[in-house]
Amino acid sequence: MSLKETINIEKLPGHVAIIMDGNGRWAKEQGKDRLFGHLHGVESVRDIVEGAAELGIKNLTLYAFSTENWDRPEYEVIGLMELLVDTIRKEVPTLNKNNIRLHVIGAINMLPENAQRELSEAINETAHNTGLNLIMALSYSSRWEIVNATQLIAADVLNGKLSIANITQDIFKEYLTTRLFPDPELLIRTSGEYRISNFLLYQSAYAELYFTDVLWPDFRRENFYEALINYQQRERRFGKTGDQIKNEQII
Ligand code: FPP
Repeated sequence: MSLKETINIEKLPGHVAIIMDGNGRWAKEQGKDRLFGHLHGVESVRDIVEGAAELGIKNLTLYAFSTENWDRPEYEVIGLMELLVDTIRKEVPTLNKNNIRLHVIGAINMLPENAQRELSEAINETAHNTGLNLIMALSYSSRWEIVNATQLIAADVLNGKLSIANITQDIFKEYLTTRLFPDPELLIRTSGEYRISNFLLYQSAYAELYFTDVLWPDFRRENFYEALINYQQRERRFGKTGDQIKNEQII
């Protein structure tokens, strides 16, 4: 049986989030510049997105550029932005072919104007697709998102749209950039780093975490399948006991 056939399609995580890490180290291993690593990282993005869509996963979030990444050397930031614009422009037909809808979360107004324009065109051109939601986290960080949500909530309280007593977890979720999507059930990080790095901190409260030593440019759908199989072997308790979960499964 192939690795793919081992996956239980009935028990796929509804939302997978990935911290794509290790492009720089991969490039260094080849004696190349960091941008070379990012360029090859795009191949992994393609393979994982197609693999996820083919399996029938509904939501996939990729951490492509963090708020903190703006502090990287200027040439790398510019190179990443060019790669982003170039990739989006080229990938729209493939997204449509695979029924994939593009979304973006993050402080998009920080991105260069041409990147914002390309993104908004790609979002519009894929808006009719009903398969995988591909959510690119760009200029994103959880602390930014939570502060942003707090500002929006405070404004709505001030203008009378919301009362303080009505700020529940369900209402709070509506002010997050991820309001359209369920919480991630599986969070993957590549490259042997064991950190969450300011990514979907609120939403990942009960996500299963999966870490692999594979560097992102080497990460392919077989590695993705391994993560899904590992996820499916876990008992998810959401704060309850193992016996409670087993009884719920019998009922
Ligand atoms: C982390 O590796 C990767 C990034 C900060 C950028 C991720 C970007 C891509 C995968 C390129 C494709 C994305 C799009 C949307 C075009 P790192 O640079 O932190 O690696 P290191 O930890 O080894 O230095």
